[in-house]
Amino acid sequence: MNAAAEAIHWDLEPGCIYLNHGSFGPSPGPVRQARESWSRRLERQPMRFFCREMETELDRAAEVVAGFLGTRADRLVLLTNATVAMNVVAASVPLQSGDQVLLSDHEYGAVRKIWSARCRTTGAVMQSVVLPESLAEDECVAAFSERLTPQTKLLVISHVASATAGILPVKAICRLARQHRIPVCVDGPHALTMLDVSPEDLGCDFYCASGHKWLCGPFGSGFLWAHPRWTSRLVSPLISWGGSIAGHPPSWKDRFQWLGTADPAPLLALAAAIEFMNESRTQLFRQHAGRLISLGMELLGQIPGVRPLIGPNNSAPVSMISMELPQHAGWEPGYHGHPDQIQSQLREWQQIEVLTGSWNQKRFLRLSAHLYNTESQIRQLAASLRELLAAERAADGH
Ligand SMILES: Cc1ncc(COP(=O)(O)O)c(C=O)c1O
Repeated sequence: MNAAAEAIHWDLEPGCIYLNHGSFGPSPGPVRQARESWSRRLERQPMRFFCREMETELDRAAEVVAGFLGTRADRLVLLTNATVAMNVVAASVPLQSGDQVLLSDHEYGAVRKIWSARCRTTGAVMQSVVLPESLAEDECVAAFSERLTPQTKLLVISHVASATAGILPVKAICRLARQHRIPVCVDGPHALTMLDVSPEDLGCDFYCASGHKWLCGPFGSGFLWAHPRWTSRLVSPLISWGGSIAGHPPSWKDRFQWLGTADPAPLLALAAAIEFMNESRTQLFRQHAGRLISLGMELLGQIPGVRPLIGPNNSAPVSMISMELPQHAGWEPGYHGHPDQIQSQLREWQQIEVLTGSWNQKRFLRLSAHLYNTESQIRQLAASLRELLAAERAADGH
């Protein structure tokens, strides 16, 4: 198996230089075929599929996901994505007026919105913990530790952060939280496949993930893992029948597996993604992406005013790096994935897709690499970015 031969599995638009797997990761052929085949099976006999087969198949897929995570299937439920999973956690953790929820300053914008809405309705307070640039384990633990109070009811931390692409020392933060009997919710969509993920080993209470990023699962596939002390207390923000249609024994998952009529094909095809991203392909992905990301960091870092957004870090980036860009006249910070003029210029001029945005008042470009990306694409990005930033500087009169 070598990376150059792997690109045939993807069906990306010819000419497009897709360097944003971190936002929306396209699936390889075997995963797309598995999803289509599940949808066909549903379409052929919907009564049989929904009423008699679906729950058994979801249980089977959950077994495969559990094997991948080194956990038990009765600790996880398949859900559309990490956003849905995080909403379930927000609906389930008891909060009251004066309670405090701590999020790191690397958290994803939608996650901040979920907790800010939940805190507003309960009278709890959401607070941000500023992590050190190095993301060094002991300093991150100290940053959280200083902010704990008897009112702290939950910590929310990304395993791999979205805007900064930083890998956070989640296990050490969970250890701290356990000493204080405070639950931790890990936001993990980027970690699957990029890192080995074991919620049990991390010692968290909740792990929210999407399968459609580095694992290359179908769009609309994810899960919530919850420690058994929580599973029976989980509530769904969406209410439906809440029982087994097929007449299976009652389970806490009944509240989540029928949220009205929907095609479960993306969830069922997660098993195909786990099969595709087997151990040897995962190793190849990490090596290949790691090489491209190091090259990107080096080449982009040679452009005047461009440097890594955070770091240097203790954990080297695997398949994603965020680079700080110089700010031009009129640039204003927006939300973290806020499109920047550089993003549209790269797309319109060179068909290059990357993420841009702002984080902590800094302007950034995030570069992703998967098995289908090549060194020449990274070189083309660096050359194009150099020209565009030079034009920006010229327009600003420098
Ligand atoms: C860190 C992080 N959390 C949560 C999400 C939300 O994922 P989804 O849109 O799949 O629900 C994202 C998406 O990019 C993310 O980067």
